[in-house]
Amino acid sequence: MSSSNRDNLFASPLGNIPSFAFDRSVVEVFPDMISRSVPGYETILSHTGELADRFVQPDSQCYDLGCSLGASSLAMAQRIDGRHAKIIAVDNASAMVEKCRGIFADYSGNTDIELVHDDICQIEITNASLVVMNFTLQFVPLPQRQALMEKIYRGLNPGGCLIISEKLSFEPAELDDLLMDLYHDFKRAQGYSDLEISQKRDAIENVLIPETMDTHIKRLMGCGFQSASPWFQCFNFCSLIAIK
Ligand SMILES: C[S@@+](CC[C@H](N)C(=O)[O-])C[C@H]1O[C@@H](n2cnc3c(N)ncnc32)[C@H](O)[C@@H]1O
Repeated sequence: MSSSNRDNLFASPLGNIPSFAFDRSVVEVFPDMISRSVPGYETILSHTGELADRFVQPDSQCYDLGCSLGASSLAMAQRIDGRHAKIIAVDNASAMVEKCRGIFADYSGNTDIELVHDDICQIEITNASLVVMNFTLQFVPLPQRQALMEKIYRGLNPGGCLIISEKLSFEPAELDDLLMDLYHDFKRAQGYSDLEISQKRDAIENVLIPETMDTHIKRLMGCGFQSASPWFQCFNFCSLIAIK
């Protein structure tokens, strides 16, 4: 199957809806799923490359945490060829890693990309000038998030940069409902039916746990980052940058 398969995983009535998982069926439609489900995904990817160009130092390491099929790694690699920097791309879903291995095998640039099949909460982070976590923290169990962010902070070199892209929740509940409605309008405009939207929502409800912007900023500043700010937001999706 090609990587451009259309996502119709939730198009037929499913009865008992299983919890969302990054399994083989998701992997086969993943590029289409993420580009039609995350407003601003392409903008965030291209600016991940732009930020790599600005922040990646010679002989340092870049991390792509929750790399899926390597889109963020490849966006970074394009901009840092010739800097003797290494990209370490990490994912814990076997089906993702298997497919990503084939994608990286076709990569012909000069930047060294290492693919690691592991839990991002278990790996070591060292000598990092850039850490990218695009739409991954939201899947990490809440009790593990603080320790993960502290580890990232310790692994970054002074002046290093963290990019975190996430789905957000909002307070009060009325505002959260409004942003969610706008997001569902976006999904409809991308060709998803009401059935697809509601079944996907049920499947992902207890798997993707969003937090508020305030929670993200407070945690980043509490870890010791010099500064932290959103640089992009569309409806309830955002990308933040934090500088050590
Ligand atoms: C929405 S996708 C990320 C998209 C990707 N960063 C991109 O830019 O295309 C989330 C990924 O995070 C991975 N993931 C979730 N929790 C993880 C963990 N604890 N350790 C490693 N990978 C994780 C999932 O397997 C999935 O591939």
